[in-house]
Amino acid sequence: MAQLARFSISLEQNLLDAFDEWIAREGYPTRSEAVKHLIRGVLVDKEWQGKGSVAGAVLLVYDHHKPDVIGKLVDIQHDHMDCTICTQHVHLDHDNCLEIITVRGAASRIRQLLTDLRSVKGIKHATLLTTTTGAKLP
Ligand code: NI
Repeated sequence: MAQLARFSISLEQNLLDAFDEWIAREGYPTRSEAVKHLIRGVLVDKEWQGKGSVAGAVLLVYDHHKPDVIGKLVDIQHDHMDCTICTQHVHLDHDNCLEIITVRGAASRIRQLLTDLRSVKGIKHATLLTTTTGAKLP
């Protein structure tokens, strides 16, 4: 376990009040835990700007009746084998499907995967959830 360090910060009272309200709303037990969460968020954003391996999920919602939409999505994922791990398919209703593609690899390749998937006609929404592999995050 890493050595614990302490530091103090100065900020405006109304900013601290707003932060404490946010902490309570989000359910963090202490200011320290909330600050750690915020710092790790910044570090994860930085990982996504670098060249190392990152993790995340691509979410797609599409109408499966559109011509060959599923075939095109599968082709694109096969073209990105270096960063696709698995896919979960959920039938939302008679027409709409949700696909969750778990990804791990270079951020640039994952962003290209998202761009390619978005280009398929029939996609209603495509977004990326970014997180970390955890390997380099303290
Ligand atoms: Ni479906």
